[in-house]
Amino acid sequence: MRFKIRPFHLSDLSALYRICLLTAKSGKDATSLYSDPDLVGSYYAAPYAIFEPEVCFVITNSGNPCGYIIGTKDTEKLIKTCEKNWFPILRERYKKPDPEEKSADAQIRRLIHEGYNLKSELTDYPAHLHIDLLPIAQGQGLGRKIMNTFIDNLKKFNTPALHLEVGKTNTNAIKFYQHIGFHIIKEYENSIAFGMQLR
Ligand SMILES: CC(C)(COP(=O)(O)OP(=O)(O)OC[C@H]1O[C@@H](n2cnc3c(N)ncnc32)[C@H](O)[C@@H]1OP(=O)(O)O)[C@@H](O)C(=O)NCCC(=O)NCCS
Repeated sequence: MRFKIRPFHLSDLSALYRICLLTAKSGKDATSLYSDPDLVGSYYAAPYAIFEPEVCFVITNSGNPCGYIIGTKDTEKLIKTCEKNWFPILRERYKKPDPEEKSADAQIRRLIHEGYNLKSELTDYPAHLHIDLLPIAQGQGLGRKIMNTFIDNLKKFNTPALHLEVGKTNTNAIKFYQHIGFHIIKEYENSIAFGMQLR
Protein backbone atom coordinates (compact mmCIF):
# COMPACT_ATOMS: atom_id res chain seq x y z
CA MET A 1 0.00 0.00 0.00
CA ARG A 2 1.22 3.48 -0.83
CA PHE A 3 -0.95 5.87 1.15
CA LYS A 4 -0.70 9.61 0.77
CA ILE A 5 -2.68 12.52 2.17
CA ARG A 6 -3.19 15.45 -0.19
CA PRO A 7 -5.59 18.36 -0.70
CA PHE A 8 -8.90 17.61 -2.44
CA HIS A 9 -8.75 17.83 -6.23
CA LEU A 10 -11.84 18.25 -8.43
CA SER A 11 -11.23 14.85 -10.03
CA ASP A 12 -11.88 13.29 -6.57
CA LEU A 13 -15.53 14.28 -6.59
CA SER A 14 -17.01 10.96 -7.78
CA ALA A 15 -14.81 9.10 -5.27
CA LEU A 16 -16.25 11.27 -2.49
CA TYR A 17 -19.78 10.19 -3.40
CA ARG A 18 -18.64 6.54 -3.54
CA ILE A 19 -16.71 6.58 -0.24
CA CYS A 20 -19.58 8.37 1.45
CA LEU A 21 -22.01 5.64 0.37
CA LEU A 22 -19.61 2.83 1.29
CA THR A 23 -19.31 4.13 4.87
CA ALA A 24 -22.79 5.59 5.46
CA LYS A 25 -24.29 2.75 7.53
CA SER A 26 -22.61 3.53 10.87
CA GLY A 27 -19.24 3.31 9.10
CA LYS A 28 -20.23 0.36 6.85
CA ASP A 29 -21.48 -0.08 3.27
CA ALA A 30 -24.92 1.52 2.84
CA THR A 31 -25.38 0.74 -0.87
CA SER A 32 -28.49 -1.38 -0.24
CA LEU A 33 -30.23 1.43 1.65
CA TYR A 34 -30.44 4.04 -1.10
CA SER A 35 -32.20 4.02 -4.46
CA ASP A 36 -29.72 6.49 -5.96
CA PRO A 37 -25.97 6.08 -5.23
CA ASP A 38 -25.50 9.88 -5.28
CA LEU A 39 -28.15 10.60 -2.66
CA VAL A 40 -26.18 10.35 0.56
CA GLY A 41 -23.09 12.08 -0.83
CA SER A 42 -25.24 14.93 -2.10
CA TYR A 43 -25.97 15.81 1.51
CA TYR A 44 -22.94 14.61 3.49
CA ALA A 45 -20.00 15.02 1.10
CA ALA A 46 -20.11 16.93 -2.19
CA PRO A 47 -21.10 20.47 -1.06
CA TYR A 48 -18.16 20.71 1.33
CA ALA A 49 -15.61 19.87 -1.34
CA ILE A 50 -17.31 22.05 -3.94
CA PHE A 51 -17.76 25.17 -1.82
CA GLU A 52 -14.75 24.86 0.55
CA PRO A 53 -12.12 22.74 -1.19
CA GLU A 54 -9.43 24.63 0.74
CA VAL A 55 -10.31 22.68 3.91
CA CYS A 56 -10.84 19.25 2.30
CA PHE A 57 -8.26 16.46 2.06
CA VAL A 58 -8.17 12.95 0.65
CA ILE A 59 -6.18 9.81 1.34
CA THR A 60 -5.00 8.00 -1.76
CA ASN A 61 -3.67 4.47 -2.20
CA SER A 62 -1.33 4.39 -5.19
CA GLY A 63 -3.16 7.49 -6.40
CA ASN A 64 -6.71 6.18 -5.86
CA PRO A 65 -8.84 8.04 -3.33
CA CYS A 66 -9.78 5.76 -0.41
CA GLY A 67 -10.68 8.22 2.33
CA TYR A 68 -11.44 11.86 2.98
CA ILE A 69 -11.96 14.56 5.53
CA ILE A 70 -14.25 17.33 4.39
CA GLY A 71 -15.73 20.27 6.22
CA THR A 72 -16.40 23.93 6.54
CA LYS A 73 -14.70 26.78 8.39
CA ASP A 74 -18.02 28.48 9.02
CA THR A 75 -21.18 26.39 9.21
CA GLU A 76 -23.59 29.37 9.10
CA LYS A 77 -21.98 30.64 5.91
CA LEU A 78 -22.11 27.19 4.30
CA ILE A 79 -25.80 26.91 5.20
CA LYS A 80 -26.52 30.14 3.30
CA THR A 81 -24.36 29.11 0.34
CA CYS A 82 -26.11 25.75 0.03
CA GLU A 83 -29.58 27.25 0.36
CA LYS A 84 -28.72 29.45 -2.62
CA ASN A 85 -26.49 27.28 -4.78
CA TRP A 86 -26.91 23.63 -3.85
CA PHE A 87 -30.19 22.44 -2.36
CA PRO A 88 -32.67 24.05 -4.81
CA ILE A 89 -31.49 21.83 -7.68
CA LEU A 90 -31.35 18.74 -5.47
CA ARG A 91 -34.87 19.39 -4.21
CA GLU A 92 -36.06 19.05 -7.80
CA ARG A 93 -34.16 15.78 -8.19
CA TYR A 94 -35.07 14.12 -4.87
CA LYS A 95 -38.73 14.21 -3.88
CA LYS A 96 -39.72 15.23 -0.35
CA PRO A 97 -40.92 12.07 1.42
CA ASP A 98 -44.32 11.74 3.05
CA PRO A 99 -44.15 12.14 6.85
CA GLU A 100 -44.86 8.43 7.40
CA GLU A 101 -41.88 7.33 5.24
CA LYS A 102 -39.15 6.18 7.64
CA SER A 103 -36.57 4.51 5.36
CA ALA A 104 -32.94 5.67 5.28
CA ASP A 105 -33.56 6.87 1.71
CA ALA A 106 -36.55 8.96 2.83
CA GLN A 107 -34.55 10.33 5.75
CA ILE A 108 -31.82 11.75 3.47
CA ARG A 109 -34.40 13.16 1.04
CA ARG A 110 -36.07 14.81 4.04
CA LEU A 111 -32.70 16.29 5.13
CA ILE A 112 -32.13 17.68 1.64
CA HIS A 113 -35.50 19.45 1.82
CA GLU A 114 -34.80 20.75 5.34
CA GLY A 115 -31.29 21.93 4.43
CA TYR A 116 -28.39 22.20 6.84
CA ASN A 117 -28.89 23.74 10.26
CA LEU A 118 -26.68 24.75 13.17
CA LYS A 119 -28.01 23.85 16.59
CA SER A 120 -27.75 26.65 19.14
CA GLU A 121 -25.35 24.71 21.41
CA LEU A 122 -22.91 24.38 18.46
CA THR A 123 -22.64 28.05 17.48
CA ASP A 124 -19.42 28.47 19.48
CA TYR A 125 -17.92 25.70 17.31
CA PRO A 126 -18.33 27.27 13.84
CA ALA A 127 -16.32 24.73 11.83
CA HIS A 128 -17.52 21.18 11.28
CA LEU A 129 -16.29 18.07 9.50
CA HIS A 130 -16.99 14.60 8.14
CA ILE A 131 -14.30 11.92 7.99
CA ASP A 132 -14.69 8.60 6.16
CA LEU A 133 -12.06 6.03 5.29
CA LEU A 134 -12.67 2.85 3.31
CA PRO A 135 -11.76 -0.37 5.19
CA ILE A 136 -8.45 -0.62 3.28
CA ALA A 137 -7.30 2.62 4.95
CA GLN A 138 -8.69 2.07 8.44
CA GLY A 139 -6.85 1.09 11.62
CA GLN A 140 -3.33 2.18 10.69
CA GLY A 141 -3.12 5.73 11.94
CA LEU A 142 -4.41 7.45 8.81
CA GLY A 143 -7.59 8.73 10.49
CA ARG A 144 -5.54 10.50 13.15
CA LYS A 145 -3.10 11.79 10.53
CA ILE A 146 -5.71 13.27 8.18
CA MET A 147 -7.55 14.75 11.19
CA ASN A 148 -4.33 16.49 12.27
CA THR A 149 -3.85 17.75 8.70
CA PHE A 150 -7.40 19.14 8.74
CA ILE A 151 -7.01 20.78 12.17
CA ASP A 152 -3.59 22.33 11.42
CA ASN A 153 -5.04 23.75 8.21
CA LEU A 154 -8.13 25.16 9.98
CA LYS A 155 -5.87 26.94 12.47
CA LYS A 156 -4.33 28.88 9.57
CA PHE A 157 -7.81 30.35 8.97
CA ASN A 158 -8.00 31.36 12.65
CA THR A 159 -11.07 29.20 13.25
CA PRO A 160 -11.83 29.13 17.00
CA ALA A 161 -13.41 25.68 17.35
CA LEU A 162 -14.97 22.80 15.43
CA HIS A 163 -17.69 20.25 15.93
CA LEU A 164 -18.93 17.03 14.39
CA GLU A 165 -21.91 14.78 14.90
CA VAL A 166 -21.86 11.00 15.00
CA GLY A 167 -24.65 8.43 15.19
CA LYS A 168 -24.78 6.53 18.49
CA THR A 169 -24.63 3.21 16.63
CA ASN A 170 -21.19 4.11 15.20
CA THR A 171 -19.31 3.02 18.33
CA ASN A 172 -15.95 2.75 16.52
CA ALA A 173 -16.05 6.37 15.42
CA ILE A 174 -17.19 7.50 18.89
CA LYS A 175 -14.18 5.77 20.49
CA PHE A 176 -11.88 7.27 17.83
CA TYR A 177 -13.13 10.84 18.47
CA GLN A 178 -12.83 10.43 22.25
CA HIS A 179 -9.38 8.90 21.92
CA ILE A 180 -7.98 11.72 19.76
CA GLY A 181 -9.16 14.52 22.02
CA PHE A 182 -12.73 15.56 21.16
CA HIS A 183 -15.11 16.31 24.04
CA ILE A 184 -18.86 15.72 24.14
CA ILE A 185 -20.86 18.92 23.62
CA LYS A 186 -24.28 17.31 23.77
CA GLU A 187 -25.95 13.92 23.49
CA TYR A 188 -29.15 13.68 21.45
CA GLU A 189 -31.54 10.76 21.13
CA ASN A 190 -29.67 9.11 18.24
CA SER A 191 -26.39 11.01 17.96
CA ILE A 192 -23.64 12.80 19.86
CA ALA A 193 -22.08 16.19 19.07
CA PHE A 194 -18.34 16.33 19.74
CA GLY A 195 -16.25 19.48 19.84
CA MET A 196 -12.67 20.73 19.96
CA GLN A 197 -11.24 24.16 20.72
CA LEU A 198 -8.58 25.29 18.25
CA ARG A 199 -7.15 28.27 20.14
C1 LIG B 1 -13.52 6.24 12.36
C2 LIG B 1 -12.29 6.39 11.46
C3 LIG B 1 -12.24 7.78 10.87
C4 LIG B 1 -11.03 6.20 12.33
O1 LIG B 1 -9.90 6.26 11.49
P1 LIG B 1 -8.77 5.13 11.58
O2 LIG B 1 -7.73 5.43 10.56
O3 LIG B 1 -9.43 3.80 11.50
O4 LIG B 1 -8.20 5.37 13.04
P2 LIG B 1 -6.63 5.45 13.43
O5 LIG B 1 -5.99 4.18 13.04
O6 LIG B 1 -6.05 6.71 12.90
O7 LIG B 1 -6.73 5.55 15.00
C5 LIG B 1 -6.29 6.70 15.73
C6 LIG B 1 -6.31 6.37 17.20
O8 LIG B 1 -7.65 6.10 17.62
C7 LIG B 1 -7.72 4.82 18.20
N1 LIG B 1 -8.96 4.18 17.77
C8 LIG B 1 -9.46 4.13 16.52
N2 LIG B 1 -10.60 3.41 16.53
C9 LIG B 1 -10.78 3.00 17.79
C10 LIG B 1 -11.76 2.19 18.43
N3 LIG B 1 -12.79 1.67 17.76
N4 LIG B 1 -11.64 1.97 19.78
C11 LIG B 1 -10.62 2.49 20.48
N5 LIG B 1 -9.64 3.24 19.92
C12 LIG B 1 -9.74 3.50 18.60
C13 LIG B 1 -6.55 4.04 17.64
O9 LIG B 1 -6.15 2.99 18.51
C14 LIG B 1 -5.49 5.11 17.50
O10 LIG B 1 -4.84 5.31 18.75
P3 LIG B 1 -3.30 5.82 18.80
O11 LIG B 1 -3.12 6.88 17.71
O12 LIG B 1 -3.16 6.38 20.18
O13 LIG B 1 -2.46 4.60 18.53
C15 LIG B 1 -12.27 5.32 10.34
O14 LIG B 1 -12.17 4.04 10.90
C16 LIG B 1 -13.48 5.37 9.42
O15 LIG B 1 -13.50 6.18 8.50
N6 LIG B 1 -14.46 4.51 9.64
C17 LIG B 1 -15.62 4.37 8.73
C18 LIG B 1 -16.40 5.64 8.50
C19 LIG B 1 -16.85 6.29 9.77
O16 LIG B 1 -17.36 5.67 10.68
N7 LIG B 1 -16.67 7.63 9.81
C20 LIG B 1 -17.13 8.44 10.91
C21 LIG B 1 -18.51 8.92 10.67
S1 LIG B 1 -19.08 10.00 11.97
